[in-house]
Amino acid sequence: MNTVSDKIILGIESSCDETGVGIVRLGSTGEITLLADQVASSVDQHARFGGVVPEVASRAHLEAMVPTMDRALDEAGISLSNVDAIAVTCGPGLAGALLVGVSAAKAYAAALDVPLYGVNHLAGHVAADTLQHGALPSECLALLVSGGHTQLLKVEDLAGKITEIGSTIDDAAGEAYDKVARIIGLPYPGGPPIDKAAKQGDPNAIKFPRGLTGPRDPKFDFSFSGLKTAVARWVEGQEADGKPIPVDDVCASFQESVADVLTAKAVRAATELGIGTLVISGGVAANSRLSGLARERCAQAGIELRVPRPRLCTDNGAMIAALGAHLVAAGVRPSSLELPTDPGLPVDTVYV
Ligand code: KG4
Ligand code: ZN
Repeated sequence: MNTVSDKIILGIESSCDETGVGIVRLGSTGEITLLADQVASSVDQHARFGGVVPEVASRAHLEAMVPTMDRALDEAGISLSNVDAIAVTCGPGLAGALLVGVSAAKAYAAALDVPLYGVNHLAGHVAADTLQHGALPSECLALLVSGGHTQLLKVEDLAGKITEIGSTIDDAAGEAYDKVARIIGLPYPGGPPIDKAAKQGDPNAIKFPRGLTGPRDPKFDFSFSGLKTAVARWVEGQEADGKPIPVDDVCASFQESVADVLTAKAVRAATELGIGTLVISGGVAANSRLSGLARERCAQAGIELRVPRPRLCTDNGAMIAALGAHLVAAGVRPSSLELPTDPGLPVDTVYV
């Protein structure tokens, strides 16, 4: 039941290949309740290219936006006239894809005469966790692992204070999954099939490198392109010798390297910075070995671990609605209707 002071926030996401519309209710004491989370994905249209094709994604957003909106309103059991604010991803992401979501959000905000909040997709991934586990502590570390990003973030305030303390210097973790899947003949996106195959494989079968873990390497930065090349060379070597590719072992050994490096660096960062909570989000957070190893290592180090359910980890509109609700609760000034998109929006700019 809505009270007079409750607010309904609608979130729109279109930065990559998922058109997401989410709806949350912001209660008078700041609690945020998820009312709807509808996603239309164009992933199947990109599969044969082995990665997201920007023009195809933009066209798919255009076609999916209104039907996804209608499904979200239906799921929440509300009409547009109940919406009190609109939040939208304005960056980072694909330029054309972002434009579709931002244009739609402006149109809805203008037509409904409600405030518009242009928000950062990466901060949205962190906000997703609050939908499942409640408010974040005053300080936490976030490990953001997706197809486009791999970052360690210090989050002091979701409504404004997010600082990057490390990031990948080449491929993102999800990108490495997608490229390795292509090398060994598994479908795109590579994360889910590699995760599944790895369960049957031996993680110690092949010793793949651990990127940027030498004594003089940057402590909190990541590198996955050497790992991807090592997998390619190893597979080529097998083929040259006329030997079969043990797909399950390759997957398990590759996955072990990714999970080992991500969790070791995240736990080390939390420990050195004296931060007691680690949040892992983004598409790769759905990985079973990453969450399993993070659980073990966080328990050993006395760190609380929060990993939202897979549906909230991958791109969705609910996380954008949640971030919008945090901004409304914090009394942040809304964006102008001239809100620009910014494909390279830095993570410390939580709203525009
Ligand atoms: O966050 P997301 O949905 O979109 C981006 O913003 O990129 O992440 C997509 C990425 C893809 O690279 C996909 O292969 C990876 O997340 N992914 C996984 C798993 N599920 C999705 N990676 C490893 N294990 C998984 N179970
Ligand atoms: Zn994402």
